[in-house]
Amino acid sequence: MSKAAENLDQWIRSTFIELNTALEETYFAQDDPAQIEGNGDDIKAELMQQGRDLIAPLVAEGNTEQRFESAFDVLGNLGFFLAALRRHELTNPEREDESPFKDCSALGMHIAASIGVAPRFATAHLTTQNRAINGVQKSFTSLKDEKIFNECNLYGILAFKRAGVALMRIPGIGVSAPATALLLEEAKAALEQVAQHNKTLFDKMDVARFFFCIRPYYKPYRVGKEIYRGANAGDFAEINEIDLLLGLCRGNDPHYAQILEEKILFMMPDDQRSLRKCLSMKPLLDEFMEALPHHAKEEWFQRNCMLFLEVCEAHGRTAAQHQNMLVKKYIEKPADGVNERHLKQITASGPPLPALVKSLQHLRDLRMAARRDDIETAFPKLEKLRKAVTG
Ligand code: HEM
Repeated sequence: MSKAAENLDQWIRSTFIELNTALEETYFAQDDPAQIEGNGDDIKAELMQQGRDLIAPLVAEGNTEQRFESAFDVLGNLGFFLAALRRHELTNPEREDESPFKDCSALGMHIAASIGVAPRFATAHLTTQNRAINGVQKSFTSLKDEKIFNECNLYGILAFKRAGVALMRIPGIGVSAPATALLLEEAKAALEQVAQHNKTLFDKMDVARFFFCIRPYYKPYRVGKEIYRGANAGDFAEINEIDLLLGLCRGNDPHYAQILEEKILFMMPDDQRSLRKCLSMKPLLDEFMEALPHHAKEEWFQRNCMLFLEVCEAHGRTAAQHQNMLVKKYIEKPADGVNERHLKQITASGPPLPALVKSLQHLRDLRMAARRDDIETAFPKLEKLRKAVTG
C-alpha cells in the first residue's frame, strides 16, 4: 500500500469514525433525528476537508500499484468517505446531475474500471474484506449497534458461503453419490447457522439506532454522472448459487435474472466468476425430478432427496426471517413513523419502499417455494419429491 493509501486508511479507522459518531449523536438527540441539514455543520466541514485532502494525492497516484487488494481497499475507503458525505447530505443525487466530488469520482472510476467492480464501497469492504487491526474492523461509527450489524452480517455471509461451497461440489459427483449426503448435511448445518445469526441480529440491534444512524450510510450516491445503489448484505455469490443450485430460482426467470445482472459488479471478481460458473450448472431439483420415475425407491434417492428437501426448507427459513423479521422490524415499521420528506431514498437500491418490499417478497416466496398463483415457484415439484420420500 502506498503512503497516501495508508494515510487514508488510518484516517478512516480513526478520525472519520469519531466525526461520524459525533454527528450521529447530534442528530439522534433531536426531536426529529432524521433532520440532517443545518446540524453539526462545522463537523461536516471538517470531515469533508480532511477526507478530500487525503484523497487528493491518491487521485494523482491513480491505480499505479496494480495490486488487486490494495486497489480494492482504496476503493472501499474512498467509498466510505463518499457514503458518509451522502449520509450527511453533503451530496444528494436528487439535487445534482453529477457528483460534486469530481476528484473522488475520477479515482473511484479509475480503480473500478481496472479491477472490474462497481466504483463504490460494497458489502465486502465492510465484511469479508474488512481487515481487522488489533481486533477492530472498519466501520462508519463507533456505535455499538453498528458493530452488531456488521458482525452479524459477516457471520451470516460466512455461513451462506459455507453452504454455497458445499452445494457447488454436488454437480461434479451427482445427486446419487453417497458423498452428496455429506455435502447436503453440510449445507443444511450452515443455513441453520445463518438463521441463528439472523436471530441474534433481530434480538440485539436497536431499531431506532439502525434506522436513523446506520442505514443512511447505505443510500445510493453518484460517482461521476451515474447513481450507484447502496451496498446490501446480499452482494456475494453464494446466496445466488444456493438459489440456483437448489433450483428455487432460475437464471432465465426475468425477475431473478434482473437481480443477478444488477448485482454482479457489486461482488468481488472471484464471486463474479463463481456465480457465472454456477449459471451453467444443472439445478439439483432438476436432477432429482429426472431420477424420480426411475429411482424413487432406491436407498440413495430416499436419503439424498430427503436431505435436499431439508436444505430447501432451511434456505426458505432464512429468506422468511430476512423479510418477516429483519426488513419488517428495521425498515418497514420505523419508516411508518417518519416524515414523507425524509423517506426518499430510504432503501439502498433506490426504489420507493413499497416497490422494494414487493420485490423482496417475490424473492422470499421463490426461496420458500411458496404456493403462489401469480408467479412460478418450485412448489409443485417439491411437493412431488416430498410425496416420494414421505410415502
Ligand atoms: C437489519 C438487518 C437487515 C435489513 C433491515 C435488511 C434489509 C434489506 C433490504 C431493504 C434489502 C433490499 C435492497 C436494499 O434496499 O438494500 C436487502 C437485500 C438483501 N439482503 Fe438484507 N437486510 C438485513 C440483513 C441482512 C443479512 C444479515 C443478510 C445475509 C447475510 C441479508 C441478505 C440480503 C440479500 C441476499 C439481499 C439481496 C436481495 C436478495 O437476494 O434477497 N440481509 N436487505
